[in-house]
Parts: sequence; structure tokens; C-alpha cells
Amino acid sequence: MTCSDRVVVAPSLLSADFGNLAQSAREAEAGGAEYLHFDVMDGSFVPNITFGMPVVRTLRPLSKLFFDVHLMIVQPAKYIQAFAEAGADGLTVHVEASPHLDRTLSVIRAHGMKAGVALNPGTSSEFLEYVLDKVDLVLIMTVNPGFGGQSFLPLMIPKIERVRALIEKANHPIHIEVDGGIDSTTAPHVVSAGATALVAGTSVYGYPNGVAEGIRILRESYSAER
Ligand code: DX5
Ligand code: ZN
Repeated sequence: MTCSDRVVVAPSLLSADFGNLAQSAREAEAGGAEYLHFDVMDGSFVPNITFGMPVVRTLRPLSKLFFDVHLMIVQPAKYIQAFAEAGADGLTVHVEASPHLDRTLSVIRAHGMKAGVALNPGTSSEFLEYVLDKVDLVLIMTVNPGFGGQSFLPLMIPKIERVRALIEKANHPIHIEVDGGIDSTTAPHVVSAGATALVAGTSVYGYPNGVAEGIRILRESYSAER
């Protein structure tokens, strides 16, 4: 069962002003986003290094948004409690970094967070088959993770459709979130394929007329698809 109400917009702080993340968080909230997406990178699982628990903890009291934390790190299970205590609302781990995925998802939920599973572009959706009962969000990477501003991988469209078919069998709502190269051109395609949450870095924080306008343009681009 996918989440059928309004498509969620999740601005990614990766493309925000690192000199004023509090202001960037406020702009996302004022612009009507539902989620704030934290791209946590460790320089091992992906070639980039970004930020961790201290940024989540600092922004938590300043924002009412759903803190959607995407762990692009090795051994993510080691950090579940720390991100829960920092104020994460959802924690997404990569299949490729989680040999004990079933247990990791249960532990995420046991810490009061929504449990997410992320798939890199080359990873099959088959990895979801035996953990669907423990998943609240599937994150389909539509670029190779590590950096913002990359080009969307069109081959991920059939993957979104396959994941939608797979989660229709689940008897609880599961978000299909897409991450990477999502803008007013690609958004209509991913939404019609079944995406219900859009991570947007460059197309929101890089929008020349400001964050609120970036979010508005993004939402308008797929409104006919809904
Ligand atoms: C992985 C990151 C990026 C980011 C989105 O590299 O997760 O995909 O959030 O970046 P944009 O929206 O700029 O492609
Ligand atoms: Zn992300």
C-alpha cells in the first residue's frame, strides 16, 4: 500500500547554505515542505563527507518538519540510537551497507523512528521482498550517491514502478522516496511511476528565485499527474 495523499517534498540540506543551516531549515518550512532531508555521508560508503548527529540535534528545536535522515555510511546500525536521540523522525539505511537489514529496521522502529531502506541505482528491488513488513519508506537513488547536482538516471523509472507493484502487497502505508536529479522536468515522470516523496537539493536550495518558489515550481510540475 503506497501513501496516497499529497506528494511529500523533502529539501536536501546537502545543497543548502552550510554557513546558515538554521535559515535553510526555516526556508524549507516556510516554503511548505513536509520533510527536511539530511544526507549523512562518511567518506567510506560514498566519496563525500557531510555532517552527522550534531547538525540534526542543532536544527531539531528550530523546525517542526519531519527529519528524514538518509545514512550513506558504513555500519549504519551503530548510529541508530544516536540519531534517535538527536531528533531524527525517519532513518534510512542502505541495503548495500546492512547485512542484518531485517534486525536493523526493527531496531530503528524500536527507537520510535520510521524505518527506511535505500537502494543504489545498481541494486535490485528484490532486496525489499522479505523486509516489507518492517519498512515505512523505500528510497530509490536516482543518481549514484555522494554529490548533489548530478543528472537523473532514467533507468530508475521502471524500478519505481516495480517497487510500487511490490509494496501494493503490504498492508501498511509505505512511501516511495526518490533522491537525485529531481526537478520540474523529472518530477512528473517519477510521480506518475509511483514516487510519493521527492528529495530535492539543487532544484530547491539552488533555485534562483528562492526556496519557496523552487518548491512551488516542483509541486506544480507534477500536479497534473495526481
Ligand atoms: C546523494 C544525495 C543527493 C541529494 C540530492 O548524492 O542524496 O542525491 O540529496 O541532490 P540533487 O537534488 O541536487 O540532485
Ligand atoms: Zn539523500
